[in-house]
Amino acid sequence: MEIKHYEFQQHGDNRGHLVAVENNIDIPFDIKRIYYLYDTVPGFVRGKHSHRKLEQVLVCVAGSCMIHLDDGNEQKDVLLNNPVKGLYIGPNTWREIYNFSEDAVLLVIASELYDESDYIRNYDDFLKSLSS
Ligand code: TYD
Repeated sequence: MEIKHYEFQQHGDNRGHLVAVENNIDIPFDIKRIYYLYDTVPGFVRGKHSHRKLEQVLVCVAGSCMIHLDDGNEQKDVLLNNPVKGLYIGPNTWREIYNFSEDAVLLVIASELYDESDYIRNYDDFLKSLSS
């Protein structure tokens, strides 16, 4: 499984840092939605689903968390702890998000509006969807 990271340009000076992410320039799709996870209760695992169509880039803008990725063949675990690094997750990839630090804020940049019918929330259904 190929892990795709994007490294965003950081505009830093003596006042601090700023990162801008633009459609089709810094990430490879039109941005239709953003959401973020914060105040995540320690010990809980989030995600646990795949998407049929959705593309996403995940940026841990504060703190850290782990992303477990599974394409049905291979599994990889990726640490996100850098606000200038985005992790791309395409369709047909099972993801679980865990080990959130207390201060973690995970920004998700998404290619589509929220659509529950795009989710596969059962792991066996995910595996079946790969062979159909
Ligand atoms: P959920 O899919 O359980 O989050 P995660 O996969 O990160 O554990 O989403 C939690 C709730 O938020 C659920 O009721 C659906 C809702 N939601 C939206 O309304 N819009 C969105 O863009 C997302 C991602 C979730």
